[in-house]
Amino acid sequence: MNGLFSPYALKDMVMKNRIVMAPMCMYMAEAGMADDWHLAHYASRAAGGAGLIVFEATAVSPEGRISDYDLGLWRDEQVPGLRRIVDAIHREGAMAGIQLGHAGRKSEVSDSEPVSCSALRFNEEGALPMELDYPGIHRIIGDFGHAAARAHAAGFDYVELHGAHGYLINQFLSPLVNQRTDGYGGQFENRARFLLETIREVRLHWPKEKPLAVRISAEEYDGAGNHTVDMAAILNLVKSEGLDIVHVSSGGVVPGVVETWPGYQIRFAENIRLETELPVIGGGLITSPQQAEDIVRSGRADLVFLGRELLRNPFWPLLSARSIKADVAWPEPYERAKPF
Ligand SMILES: Cc1cc2nc3c(=O)[nH]c(=O)nc-3n(C[C@H](O)[C@H](O)[C@H](O)COP(=O)(O)O)c2cc1C
Repeated sequence: MNGLFSPYALKDMVMKNRIVMAPMCMYMAEAGMADDWHLAHYASRAAGGAGLIVFEATAVSPEGRISDYDLGLWRDEQVPGLRRIVDAIHREGAMAGIQLGHAGRKSEVSDSEPVSCSALRFNEEGALPMELDYPGIHRIIGDFGHAAARAHAAGFDYVELHGAHGYLINQFLSPLVNQRTDGYGGQFENRARFLLETIREVRLHWPKEKPLAVRISAEEYDGAGNHTVDMAAILNLVKSEGLDIVHVSSGGVVPGVVETWPGYQIRFAENIRLETELPVIGGGLITSPQQAEDIVRSGRADLVFLGRELLRNPFWPLLSARSIKADVAWPEPYERAKPF
């Protein structure tokens, strides 16, 4: 029976356990470059025992950043700083992943105008985005491909496209945002086209032996928005382009307050898994090792993500093993600290 601390293999990526550090923007980069701060941040979570560390949303172009301080992969010069961190993560026995994204209308960078599928603001304070024309769409799809090639050069084991939380891919997918009447809007097949062509392009640059994921908002918390069943249909349309796993989140497409509780998104993950037959990463407000173990053992998700709990405690994986009676190896220099 698979548990939280049983290994997991997906193509060439072999994880020592089922714990994923969720991508979390830290807004600590200058000119998109990773530095010592990022090394300490990510390597310590790897030393703490997570199986897969997914780097924060990393912009495929300067205009695609959420803020001026996002990580980026739009220039070759950004590769060595990331490579150093990937190597440190590998030394700790963890796998390294990166989330590639474009903020679209949610971009707040200081020297450029945001773009989106349609000229609609996120909220009253949000800037009015410029509607992308076909050359603009194709340029961004190309940027995703080049960023994926750089992610490979940096040694990453896993790439995840940020298709959740109301960023550009999600803007195209959502009927709440996408009001186009051309080939990229309207019926769900057209709204899925930007994602489909992005996956196709990324696959030209990202080795077929390495897993490709997409993070989705499986529920948009609006009657007229996408629900799990719609997202499953979209995934079923695009998956044959080379999608290996789905990272299931929710919300962020339109403003609104969402009721949450530990594991509130697991039902979405479970349904996406059933309806697409793809493996899934599920989570949200998870802090209890028993709950994480139950999610994996019951087969509701293949992998469990943790975000804020790993910011609070990088050693959550190592310390959790004991409470669910799993015996895991500690990093050699720390062995004398292992609880007995
Ligand atoms: C500081 C912070 C930054 C985040 N940045 C990202 C991000 O870059 N990409 C993303 O998909 N989700 C992002 N998220 C959402 C997390 O990945 C995760 O889904 C969310 O925090 C819920 O999980 P948790 O309750 O375990 O923290 C962020 C969350 C936090 C707290």
